[in-house]
Amino acid sequence: MDSIRIAIVGVGNCASSLLQGIEYYRGKSEKDAIGLMHWDLCGYRPSDIEVAAAFDIDARKVGKDVSEAMFAPPNCTTAFCPKMPGTGVAVRMGRVLDGFPAHMQGYREECRFVLADEEEASREDVVRVLEESGAEILLNYLPVGSEEAARFYADCALEAGVGLVNNMPVFIASDPAWAARFRERGLPVVGDDVKAQLGATITHRVLANLFRQRGVRLDRTYQLNTGGNTDFLNMLNRDRLASKRTSKTEAVQSVLEVPLDDDNIHIGPSDYVCWQKDNKVCFLRMEGRLFGDVPMQIELRLSVEDSPNSAGIVIDAIRCCRLALDRGIGGPLISPSAYFMKHPPVQFRDDDAWRMTEEFIRGARDD
Ligand SMILES: NC(=O)c1ccc[n+]([C@@H]2O[C@H](COP(=O)([O-])OP(=O)(O)OC[C@H]3O[C@@H](n4cnc5c(N)ncnc54)[C@H](O)[C@@H]3O)[C@@H](O)[C@H]2O)c1
Repeated sequence: MDSIRIAIVGVGNCASSLLQGIEYYRGKSEKDAIGLMHWDLCGYRPSDIEVAAAFDIDARKVGKDVSEAMFAPPNCTTAFCPKMPGTGVAVRMGRVLDGFPAHMQGYREECRFVLADEEEASREDVVRVLEESGAEILLNYLPVGSEEAARFYADCALEAGVGLVNNMPVFIASDPAWAARFRERGLPVVGDDVKAQLGATITHRVLANLFRQRGVRLDRTYQLNTGGNTDFLNMLNRDRLASKRTSKTEAVQSVLEVPLDDDNIHIGPSDYVCWQKDNKVCFLRMEGRLFGDVPMQIELRLSVEDSPNSAGIVIDAIRCCRLALDRGIGGPLISPSAYFMKHPPVQFRDDDAWRMTEEFIRGARDD
């Protein structure tokens, strides 16, 4: 089978983990490959994914080979595959728009973005690079709150004729107008906002579903998250957060029979703790009533490395997107989006979304 050629927007921690994973699993056999949902996804293995182009705006990344840029500061995720071969693909200067949060200026350079002093790419430049590189799927890894930038690159993907995996919470796959544009162009889109492999959202959803199935009334819940990467630093600016909160909160509300009042559910990134680096800690509390209206509570603390947790999902989202391209399917991929993303076009319970995604992979469903 051919390789799957991806273009990356935002060579941050998540991109680093994904690229490390592609290399890491190249040297494994199916039996030894831990941490994957699929080794062979309808003929495609992780190592069939290849980077064709990359865009960033950070001075320490632009102009470097992707294999070097992915370890440049402020990236701080675990290097589980530190010896990366050169890719021959240099990171290009992208278009900044609202991707660079002004409040970061007050932090040490090691911990924040540093804007490159290069001419920004025009729309024509980005489209040309996508076309000439032979990229088939664009991965959007922009910072939360990059509303204009996310739409700019999604527009470029449409014009260049490449599919999109939208890993962050600017609503594209789940926005009917954008979804229609991808459908009209015959291009697949998986989105929005990755639901990590075993992170806060999936854990919270599974527990909320358990309450429902066991007849326990959920009265109140919170999910407080802290981390020390640039994703958390960026989200200190509450003005950039609206879509992230919506995405995370709806992901839990959608599992409940009757959604909670806003006052009784609090979910979000809560603070930036520099020394945590890419370790994210989630504090989750659920208060409910069981038989006889008798109260009960759950307190849970989850500690995960944030970026490999997203890569474990994106490695399958890319391959599903490629299956759609192979099969001539365009528009939002309903099943993979529901299973892989927090804010899909249509929410399904995770067991259903998993079954539907397996059917999609086998070719028994079209979306
Ligand atoms: N880690 C997870 O499990 C997870 C889950 C869901 C969603 N996400 C989302 O994925 C996105 C990426 O996360 P991350 O941890 O890799 O973030 P990051 O801060 O490490 O990386 C973002 C990258 O984007 C670059 N960038 C900023 N503006 C740009 C522009 N205009 N053009 C091109 N590049 C630009 C930055 O320089 C940086 O390299 C975030 O929005 C995050 O919320 C992550």
